[in-house]
Amino acid sequence: MTTAMPRHLISIDDLDRSRIERILDRAESFAEVQGREIKKVPALRGRTVVNLFYESSTRTSSSFELAAKRLSADVVNVRSIGSAVDKGESLKDTVQTLSAYDPAAIVIRSPEVGAAQLVAGWTEAAVINAGDGKHEHPTQALLDVFTLRRKLGSLEQANIWIVGDVMHSRVARSDILAFKRMGASVTVCGPPTLIPRGIEALGCEATATLARLHEADVVYVLRMQQERMRESFVPSLREYSERYQISAAQLRPGQLLMHPGPVNRGVELSADAIDSPVALIGAQVKAGVAVRMAVLYELLVGAPLLAAVA
Ligand code: NCD
Repeated sequence: MTTAMPRHLISIDDLDRSRIERILDRAESFAEVQGREIKKVPALRGRTVVNLFYESSTRTSSSFELAAKRLSADVVNVRSIGSAVDKGESLKDTVQTLSAYDPAAIVIRSPEVGAAQLVAGWTEAAVINAGDGKHEHPTQALLDVFTLRRKLGSLEQANIWIVGDVMHSRVARSDILAFKRMGASVTVCGPPTLIPRGIEALGCEATATLARLHEADVVYVLRMQQERMRESFVPSLREYSERYQISAAQLRPGQLLMHPGPVNRGVELSADAIDSPVALIGAQVKAGVAVRMAVLYELLVGAPLLAAVA
């Protein structure tokens, strides 16, 4: 039996496995719509979605915008790059101002951990976390699970390695939770300074070397997030690359390569790995639209499956 959807999507912890599967199944039906010439369905006609981005974004902001538009919502995009939202007050004012438009949903990205949770307390709208500091990025995890489920059929028993700057990565945190919930086993790998102490409590293993990388079915590489580093975590990017960069030669046949983007070419991934046939990076971006349509739909409409997109 599936449980009702939560009102907001702040963390992967808001979703049990049946809710994740329901979103993925819905996303499959929207992916089919994306293959049509007319990619729009009327599900959110007359409703408003506000995208509030306080941090740089290409993929997440464009795919949330497209997702809302393809559901026929009216979309307002507010960007405030460089604004300091560290005291809560200005964010609260902005949310209250935008709430005057009576939005059905507010999508929020912020450099501050907990921002989406705060916003949920200030508005009647459904709130979707599009990344809060280094905490969580649940829709990225859903699109990653969607991409993998399409490729592998199921994540049950899959061995997934997450390599790189786990410390500063909201993607890693949401992915570990989501991959585990779908039955995969997860190993995080990187320099000890970039692996948070106690990360095993999330149900993953941690290692500092790539020695057993061949065991992985999926190699999920993270960006070195220098914008979140207030001190030096690695001697130099060159030394980091020498030990942890993934190149095509390191991948064995049958392994899959993922990265949330944007990629630092030549730092965490070599050019030949990015362009290799096992890389799913483009498929991840493509999945973003259908999965975000599904999240918006499930939070705002949530009618039984099959009645979805007619
Ligand atoms: C990620 C993010 O912003 O957390 N990117 C994304 O949403 N596609 C990962 C990153 O910035 O490295």
